[in-house]
Amino acid sequence: MIIVLLGPPGAGKGTQGERIAERLGIPKIATGDVLREAIREGTEQGLAAKAYMDRGDLVPDSVILGIMKDALSAPSAAKGAILDGVVRTVPQADGLVRLVGALGRKVDRILLFDVPDDELIRRLSERTVCENCQTPYKGLGPGTVCAKCGGSLVRRPDDEPEAIRTRLKVYRSQTEPVIRWARDHNLEINEIDASGDVDAITDRAMKALVA
Ligand code: AP5
Repeated sequence: MIIVLLGPPGAGKGTQGERIAERLGIPKIATGDVLREAIREGTEQGLAAKAYMDRGDLVPDSVILGIMKDALSAPSAAKGAILDGVVRTVPQADGLVRLVGALGRKVDRILLFDVPDDELIRRLSERTVCENCQTPYKGLGPGTVCAKCGGSLVRRPDDEPEAIRTRLKVYRSQTEPVIRWARDHNLEINEIDASGDVDAITDRAMKALVA
């Protein structure tokens, strides 16, 4: 099953993606995590992506589609994958559909996470992430030890107020058109109310997936 998680920054794609992937026994592929890993390793791809990411802009589509091609062709994704943060532009959506088609598969479902803007801003302002395994936390300061892997929690550069504003604008202008594109191409979309209790949101998402 190939499931795309769509939604604004801070909507909980990472948090819920992890849980849904675990329940379905398939990997979560998060382009943001792949790019941050490349930045940490100082690769050419990471260096090229860093400036876009830090200011809250999108990384070029060609880079993202290259990452997706590698990730979806890997044996670990043979049974499917949860795509967290892909797709974010119409050309990416088009490219993904072609890519999975060439692999003899299809995009089975899009889960669209819906959260009011004021809640998104609050979540991102309070977030820290593990610099090692990328798990997001709220209410824990930088330097706290990650409960999952023992790494250290840090603030993301794109969680500064200016970058958050840019990310929300970019979502409205470049990612929201994907919703119309997907409907026009008969892809199945389930809107999920992604406010409130984390477990309840996972249940809503799982219910939508088995419906
Ligand atoms: P990426 O890392 O994907 O960031 P994002 O989409 O902006 O999403 P976030 O990770 O900020 O939020 P999320 O929805 O995963 O929420 P989370 O679960 O963390 O991308 C970063 C950058 O990489 C992009 O800006 C771009 O530059 C580049 N990039 C990546 N993919 C790209 C692509 N396809 N094309 C082009 N460029 C790309 O939750 C947020 C916080 O809220 C956490 O603290 C969490 O603990 C908390 N939280 C979660 N759920 C709840 C809840 N129910 N109630 C209260 N708090 C909650």
